Amino acid sequence: MNKVLVVLILLCMFASLADAQLKVLGQGDAMRLDAEKFPAEMKRNYEMLLSKCTGCHSLKITIQAVRTGQGPLSREPFNKQSARECVTRMMRKTGADISNQDAKAVINLLNYLFDENAL
Ligand code: HEC
Repeated sequence: MNKVLVVLILLCMFASLADAQLKVLGQGDAMRLDAEKFPAEMKRNYEMLLSKCTGCHSLKITIQAVRTGQGPLSREPFNKQSARECVTRMMRKTGADISNQDAKAVINLLNYLFDENAL
């Protein structure tokens, strides 16, 4: 088979694999999610994540956890249930300013992101 064609097919396969994961913008500490296509409620929840979950560490930690299914620091599984426990743990950290309602918004967003990431 034509080599160029093989390369093109391989590229398409990788492109569709990459599509299965959440779209991220930027790198390192500046890493953000592309919230353009999020439903309105999830856009609001994402704003909550940005304001409550980037004070102590970068958003990259949370994005990585959702994308890989593993906490980047603990190496523990990161799924819908452990994500909820993680948010509760974050609420209790010194200096965290996260109300029950804020936590609920973040947990709803994480659940949505897990579903999107699996598409
Ligand atoms: C007051 C500081 C603080 C805030 C605010 C905070 N975190 Fe954290 N976060 C930490 C610290 C410290 C660790 C490492 C120790 C640990 O996992 O408990 C951590 C670790 C994490 C991890 C990695 C867990 C793992 O298993 O590797 C994730 C994911 C995470 N935070 C998400 C969040 C989310 C989501 C929010 C917002 C609800 C948030 N953090 C808000 C301090 C904070």
